[in-house]
Amino acid sequence: MKQFLMVCVLAVYLTSCCKESAKEISIIPLPQTMLVNEGEFELKNNQTIGISEKSLMGAAEYLLKIFSSTGYNFKIQEGKGDINLVISTPQETNVCGAYSLNVNKSNIDVKASDYKGIIGGIASLRQLLPVEIESDQVIDNVAWIIPFVEITDAPAYEWRGLMLDVSRHFYNKDEIKEFLNLMALYKLNKFHWHLTDDQGWRIEIKKYPLLTEKGAWREFNTHDKECIHLAEKQDNSDYELAKDKLKVVDGKTLYGGFYTQDDIKEIVAYASSLGIDIIPEVDMPGHVLSAIQNYAGISCSDDIAWGKVFSSPICPGKESALQFAKDVYNEVFELFPYEYVHLGADEVEKSNWKKCPDCQKRMSKNNLQTEEDLQAWFVKYMEKYFNDNGKKLVGWDEIFEGGLSPTATITWWRSWHGNAVKEATSQGNGVILSPNSFFYFDYAQDNSTIQRLYESNVIANLSAEEKKMIKGMQANIWCEWIPSMERMQYMVFPRALAVAEKAWSGDAKQNWACFDARMKSHLKRLNVLNVNYRIPDLVGVIENTVFVEEADVKFDCPDENVSVRYTEDGSLPTIESKLYTKPFKVSESCEFKVATFRPSGKRGDIYNVKYTKTVYQLGISVDGAKPGLKAVWHDFTGNKCAAISEAPIQEIYDVEDVVIPKGVKGKIGLIFTGYFNAPADDIYTFMLRSDDGSILKIADQMIIDNDGMHSPKEKIGQAILKKGFHPFEVRYFDPNGGLLSLKILDKSGKELVVKEHLFH
Ligand code: ACM
Ligand code: ZN
Repeated sequence: MKQFLMVCVLAVYLTSCCKESAKEISIIPLPQTMLVNEGEFELKNNQTIGISEKSLMGAAEYLLKIFSSTGYNFKIQEGKGDINLVISTPQETNVCGAYSLNVNKSNIDVKASDYKGIIGGIASLRQLLPVEIESDQVIDNVAWIIPFVEITDAPAYEWRGLMLDVSRHFYNKDEIKEFLNLMALYKLNKFHWHLTDDQGWRIEIKKYPLLTEKGAWREFNTHDKECIHLAEKQDNSDYELAKDKLKVVDGKTLYGGFYTQDDIKEIVAYASSLGIDIIPEVDMPGHVLSAIQNYAGISCSDDIAWGKVFSSPICPGKESALQFAKDVYNEVFELFPYEYVHLGADEVEKSNWKKCPDCQKRMSKNNLQTEEDLQAWFVKYMEKYFNDNGKKLVGWDEIFEGGLSPTATITWWRSWHGNAVKEATSQGNGVILSPNSFFYFDYAQDNSTIQRLYESNVIANLSAEEKKMIKGMQANIWCEWIPSMERMQYMVFPRALAVAEKAWSGDAKQNWACFDARMKSHLKRLNVLNVNYRIPDLVGVIENTVFVEEADVKFDCPDENVSVRYTEDGSLPTIESKLYTKPFKVSESCEFKVATFRPSGKRGDIYNVKYTKTVYQLGISVDGAKPGLKAVWHDFTGNKCAAISEAPIQEIYDVEDVVIPKGVKGKIGLIFTGYFNAPADDIYTFMLRSDDGSILKIADQMIIDNDGMHSPKEKIGQAILKKGFHPFEVRYFDPNGGLLSLKILDKSGKELVVKEHLFH
């Protein structure tokens, strides 16, 4: 009974949003159960790390490396020590990765039934230590104390992954190890390695040396040039291309790099020591330009320009192409011990298959009706080869098209094909969740991105039986616009912590406020690790604030590790610029450039903030106004809101609110017109979120400019309005259907029910 009561007390303790408790103990992902007892264990010089068996030597060495910042000596020994790593069965739950961690007066005991569980226990132990433990240098004057805890923990999902695209930009061996180290800290255990794509082949294949001799190197492509341009335009070194990834051949600058097979073996061993499985992906049949440019007989025609398609795939009609695919995978299988291997098979441009006599012959011989069927044939052909070699096939969800084999696993990425998950799981196929709506870490972030990811439930429509087929989840890091480790960390952290917690702790533990507090406390640890995470947005900063007499200026940052500095002369803030310490008032129109600075002195994001002194805008009188707005759907494929009105009209609707009307799909250009009926003389804040572009005008004045192609992004604007009707227009576009929402707040911050205030 006492035990039960303690669990209850601690459950409250751990899920509370109290910052103080989160600061003291802040484990991500949240353990399933944890008791905190009075007292602390202190690391001291000459303590021993005991291992119950030799196979734990890698885990002990990992722990030793973590402890190196103490400067103390620790001896690893077989048998019992002060800190014990113990393989012991049975666990309370026998799930792979489950562990218990017991810290008491005399010992630290990490117990698990497998190596991976021990590594999970070490991750929790690591997070219980002062953040300085993450330093790569010896830190003096820190009491290396660990609170007495009893943790029993197990993952909700076996698959907790990150995918990294190393084709669009190459990440070298040391960078990959750094990435794996951060994964291990958060119990992320599957590294999906996207090794090849059109823009670069990164894995040495002995039988086809040109794949890396030539295919790993390129002259600057449009992405590279754009990154170089962004580095300059935004004065942001994170966009620079690394000099050590350039070489000059015959007077030409080439950019790239690749992993030798020895590099791969070293990385696989390193990952394994951290309990991480690597899933290699050599993408085919599409995304193979880096191969077909260097070897004949792989695509439908050896003339790259044939068919004039952007990216010609492998030709499933040619035996030479099939042989190439098998030869490559043969070497991949040898290098990667994990049973799952990813075929890719996404976004295959199939128009060449229609014209290729070999492809057509293959189709007729196998009674295949469509090119989708030919893709399915290729996937099944490769799956057989995978299986014959003791491997299990994973592919992007396109492998579902044309019929999925009963044994393949899909990585669901096309959020708009949600039914694929239901269909796949109902027929017994495993699914890894990574819909681009939440799990694409190359997509831009705003102040709600992490919360929306954390609270997302993309499998609500599955039955309990179907849910059992969900292996887990992973986030994908496509790197077209991510040329450096710094930029990658900016895109990945801290949001990867949300994926780690969703996948480990499961839905029952989900509590945003509790997670958010812990995540913020982890920023300190990430700073010590020198991780260039995205600093959370300044609170309540509006690009364009309007006021009548005076306005409060606030640049408060939720990240207590950073300083906020600003300029008033339009220059970019530097570490020497004025330090923001507390809110102040302005009584005239003015503009600020504001930036956050990490403890290292490195600048974070820059905010352009404008304060505009203005007068109340008078309302107009409108006779016979009806509730709602008029919405005109234009058949629009452009990328700027201004041009929507020039596109042909598809349909006209009366709508209640600023939302995409039912039935509007595909190529969307929408123009909403009517009036905003201000309920009082007040300052109104409009929050317009869209994917892609949107704008909001009141009486022809731009209040929010959220225009251009982009991922989900909220922009905020204000207007000072007299009570009454004000001409109102919202424009929105998305070439393949997206997202649109509007919130309106009054000056006190109270949210209005939007549809009660719209008329036409
Ligand atoms: C993908 O994003 N093409 C899997
Ligand atoms: Zn062909």
